[in-house]
Amino acid sequence: MPVRHYVTARIIDGRALGAIIEKGLTNEAEAIEKRGRAPHLVVVIVGDDAASHVYVRNKQRACERIGIKSTRHDLPSTSNPSDLIDLVDNLNKDEGVDGILVQSPLPDGFDEISITEMIDPEKDVDGFHPVNLGRIVTGKVDGLLPCTPSAVIRMLESTGERLAGKKALVVGRSRIVGMPSALLLAQKGVDATVTISHSQSQDLRRLCLDSDIIVAAVGRPGMIKSDWVKKDAIVIDVGINRVEVDGASRLVGDVEKEASERASWVTPVPGGVGPMTIAMLMRNTIKAASDRI
Ligand code: GUN
Repeated sequence: MPVRHYVTARIIDGRALGAIIEKGLTNEAEAIEKRGRAPHLVVVIVGDDAASHVYVRNKQRACERIGIKSTRHDLPSTSNPSDLIDLVDNLNKDEGVDGILVQSPLPDGFDEISITEMIDPEKDVDGFHPVNLGRIVTGKVDGLLPCTPSAVIRMLESTGERLAGKKALVVGRSRIVGMPSALLLAQKGVDATVTISHSQSQDLRRLCLDSDIIVAAVGRPGMIKSDWVKKDAIVIDVGINRVEVDGASRLVGDVEKEASERASWVTPVPGGVGPMTIAMLMRNTIKAASDRI
């Protein structure tokens, strides 16, 4: 009988890596509390987007595990943008608050960019304020970095593979993931050669096949086909897409699962970038608190 050998990629386990990071942060949170008070994260959610409520709950659970105080403000989708502006204004002024996170997406009628810009950059634990994003461009990467892009870099580094000089393709150019991931990949110390692709890019298949690293961040289930993945590439799948399979609801990434038969390393969905993003948010909260307490 013929024997078929399947060589599958190694898994970059976001839950395990995140748990190690959280353990270190727990000690830091304890040390901060001894200096005065526990670090304090405030999460604001507007409306009733189901996925956002799950994400926010997971962020609050992580705070509990680590010893970070968390407060949540729920505003109805019918609230006025000025209610959110007033709330952020008060949180900026509140000496007892270290981190402010306004969960995205906001309902229609809210201007996400201007809300992001009004958060005190020192409390901007999402790392989305132009001051914090701009610092990356200047090569300053010890500040409040955006959480998912830092998770991407940490996961790549955890493989122990040499990243310098590798061709990295970022699929998607969002302000939250794609664009800042590209900036971090190109930083000194990571030193990847970066291409950003987007909806207008031609021949995405060829771009993927040319890449040693693929960071998929488009939010479209299975958009990156398994046979677009170069042999031994590293695949970081940022997509978390809910799909119906045989009547059951499942989470899948932006990259077809079979890519693991060609890649050297892959991130699972769920259990990959998601938990690591939360660990990076916790790290930012500790960083913001330790600068203040
Ligand atoms: N919505 C999806 N991801 C994020 C995130 O990282 N931060 C915020 N604030 N909202 C999100």
